[in-house]
Amino acid sequence: MDKLIIRGGNRLSGTIPISGAKNSALTLIPCALLTEEPVTLRNLPRLADIDGFQHLMTQFGVSHTIPGKRPEDFGRVVTLEAMRITSSVAPYDLVRKMRASILVLGPLLGRTGEATVSLPGGCAIGNRPIDLHLKALEAFGAEIELAQGYVKASAPDGGLPGGDFDFPVVSVGATENAVMAAVLANGTSRLFNAAREPEIVDLCNLLVAMGAEIEGIGTSDLTIHGVKTLNGATYKVMADRIEAGSYACAAAITGGEVRLEGACAEEMQATLHALRNIGVEVESDKHGIDVRADGPLKPVNLSTAPYPGLATDMQAQLMSLLCRAEGTSVLKETIFENRYMHVPELNRMGADIETEGRTAIVKGVGRLTGAEVMATDLRASMSLVIAALAAEGETQVRRIYHLDRGYERLEEKLQLVGADIERVGDD
Ligand code: EPZ
Repeated sequence: MDKLIIRGGNRLSGTIPISGAKNSALTLIPCALLTEEPVTLRNLPRLADIDGFQHLMTQFGVSHTIPGKRPEDFGRVVTLEAMRITSSVAPYDLVRKMRASILVLGPLLGRTGEATVSLPGGCAIGNRPIDLHLKALEAFGAEIELAQGYVKASAPDGGLPGGDFDFPVVSVGATENAVMAAVLANGTSRLFNAAREPEIVDLCNLLVAMGAEIEGIGTSDLTIHGVKTLNGATYKVMADRIEAGSYACAAAITGGEVRLEGACAEEMQATLHALRNIGVEVESDKHGIDVRADGPLKPVNLSTAPYPGLATDMQAQLMSLLCRAEGTSVLKETIFENRYMHVPELNRMGADIETEGRTAIVKGVGRLTGAEVMATDLRASMSLVIAALAAEGETQVRRIYHLDRGYERLEEKLQLVGADIERVGDD
């Protein structure tokens, strides 16, 4: 296992290229199951989760080709082809390694009329149930059976009839599975209170490029008119708004000035609004976002919410930044029940944070000090890196396989803007 060694204090300055969005790629890849024709995805980030998902796809007979690209380039182009689905089973040993595998349920059901997918476990941030995924598919006419740790979904002969479903809770993954099942249904399906995240818009845009008929894209009410077949397509994955927001926090905590090349401000308004309230200067154009922090950082109160609210995936990173604010901030995590595991580690670096249930009270401190810390989940790990960049002395972040799931070549990108960071084997 590797670890990161970070010596804090350098002011970050320069340009960071932003990669394709992990949470979009993970729902675009399974779309290849919906057609016999090749689907080519550009700007795919080189991430452990993406490699894992591509491996899972081979389970169903999907072939994929990666045209040659220079190794130093960020991102890659991959063509996925599901001419024939040879299996509709997603086994436990693959699904347990990456819970996003549940996103093959809808497309397998839509294409073949059946799907058997291992129940994904919970994870560090919560028990992550999938009841809404299953209720939406049942509303479209699927029969769902749970047995031996697997979900077995089947459509009536002739395919899913389609139907209406009103989400009691906004769910990104359940919305994605429902949309991917509905595009090949026999009739029209309508989703109410659907997730509106930019990654859902990216998914709908790819499906429309493949020939799907979807109305209300970008709103919480989606209408999908099922079609007989879908074609292949070539599509560029959107920029990763969470990666961009994470590096914005890294620049800000060091009092730096960084350009986030490729980031789309339109898709991260809540994060940029929070940064401006904290006292960070943010400018944007159609090719990227410029972040500059040379004044004091101000405390703010933040609450995560479904899009267009503040992304829960930005909570840990903003908390690190607020550890250096001149005053006390209050954060509320409304989406997941256990998303404060970065707090004890940050406190070991000299932060002063108390949590009460889903509320965190962050008292700004004059300085953070380097320490040996442990990554626990993807975004918590990034919050430790952000704190380390401003801490006095050396920080060692262990178990950084969590980071490799969501941040493409993180240490290289931070070295580009002057961070003193290196990856070493963790003996
Ligand atoms: C997606 O997870 C993202 N992952 C998460 O990003 C992100 O934090 C989350 O959406 C919220 O934005 C991917 O896209 C791969 P949800 P997802 O279904 O779809 C409850 C990261 O760091 N719920 O919107 O699993 C659930 O427990 C990751 O990149 C049910 O109760 O999230 C949670 O409280 C972490 N039943 C809330 O809804 C269900 O059937 C939102 O979950 C489904 C969800």
